[in-house]
Amino acid sequence: MPQRFFIETFGCQMNEHDSEKVAGLLAHRGMVAVNSLEEADLFLINTCSVREKAAQKLYSRLGEVKKHKTSHPQFLIGVLGCLAQQEGEDMVKRVPFVDLVVGTHMFHALPDLLEEVEQRRGSGARVATDFLPAPTPVEIPQVIRQSDFRANITIMEGCNKQCSFCIVPTTRGRERNRPAQAVLQEARRAVDQGYVEILLLGQTVNSYKDPNDRHFRFADLLSQVASIPRLQRVRFTSPHPREFDDHTISVIGEMETICNQVHLPLQSGSTPILKRMRRQYTRERYLEIVDKFRNCGRPIALSTDIIVGFPGESDADFQQTLSLVEEVQFESMFSFKYSPRPHTAAEHWQDEIPEEKKTHRLMLLQKMQKEIQLRLHQEHYLGRHLEVLVEGTARDGVRRFGRTSTNKVVNFPGTDRPGTFTEVFITDVGPNSLVGQKTTDRQQNCA
Ligand code: 5AD
Repeated sequence: MPQRFFIETFGCQMNEHDSEKVAGLLAHRGMVAVNSLEEADLFLINTCSVREKAAQKLYSRLGEVKKHKTSHPQFLIGVLGCLAQQEGEDMVKRVPFVDLVVGTHMFHALPDLLEEVEQRRGSGARVATDFLPAPTPVEIPQVIRQSDFRANITIMEGCNKQCSFCIVPTTRGRERNRPAQAVLQEARRAVDQGYVEILLLGQTVNSYKDPNDRHFRFADLLSQVASIPRLQRVRFTSPHPREFDDHTISVIGEMETICNQVHLPLQSGSTPILKRMRRQYTRERYLEIVDKFRNCGRPIALSTDIIVGFPGESDADFQQTLSLVEEVQFESMFSFKYSPRPHTAAEHWQDEIPEEKKTHRLMLLQKMQKEIQLRLHQEHYLGRHLEVLVEGTARDGVRRFGRTSTNKVVNFPGTDRPGTFTEVFITDVGPNSLVGQKTTDRQQNCA
């Protein structure tokens, strides 16, 4: 068996957390995590396939890693995650030097698969991309968390939505919910270990239902997690707008431990495009949900995802997206050019919007968003005292950075340990982050 492993992760927070689970599984078998590929005898790369670019990035990275293998023949390479799931045997044809391809349902089997790979050295890659019939995600005995203060915790996996642009139902399979008891146990243990923030994870996190009690839903779980004594912050990602029922919105409105930031992926502001995207809401319905958050009892910072250049998106449709963005005033946004993906409904529709047009629309959208963010920062953040959870050293290598409950990055001079809270007076703002000076230390509460 290889002894020292190194994992690289592409993609979303769910992927980041899968890598934490994989690290835990391997450590459980006595393997040791190292900090670079050169020190490792097993390299694992956890992949994303949500857009074509992610796939290209993986193959170019594998090309680099291949060079290391040429000079170290015992070195093993494993590809994990969504692209591994999507491509399976095809991936081995393209990169025959990989030893192992493991899909999204088979992580738990990784230690055994590695033993198999050892035994069959030289006889080709082992590909494991079966979907398990199990109704709940496999429980992993141990995770190795990357952060000392934020604990990622899976509550559900997979997605039953059928958005026409999205590959996730193919790569992750149908929804599987984790028993609430297991989630709460993991959350309590994390808090006992000193974690101050919990991030609840799932592909459609707010469609959660306890497999042991279908009446115990996302709002109930969120509220119980948020009630754990000594826990300071709870976040969750990624939700689907349609799954925000009134109960969930009122729990978010009432419980201070739940960060006042909610991601509300819009995708498009045009009802006909939303229909083609199979998003299950109209522009008006989306705005109603926004309104409910605006009236939930405390200010909630909304963030969103938007795709431009979806097949059939006319100039007028795109204007609808711009006008909705103007109306809602999101605090942050991820925006993407549409990228056709295999096994999706939209794959069969002509990707008709020319690349230059997609680029132009993206530029207009991002420009508008940048102005909105700058204005929101000036109006709502400048000159205020804010509680910040310190995360580490800022990009300049000198200052500290942390996040507000609304998920804004704040840079400030200081020596605070990551995982502690401090109050910062905001003295300057840009469109993407805030700058400030510490006021008082509120508490020293670190993992
Ligand atoms: N093309 C472009 N963006 C996509 N997303 C998902 N699928 C695609 C695609 N085929 C975006 C959506 C989603 C985010 C995670 O990625 O905006 O919310």
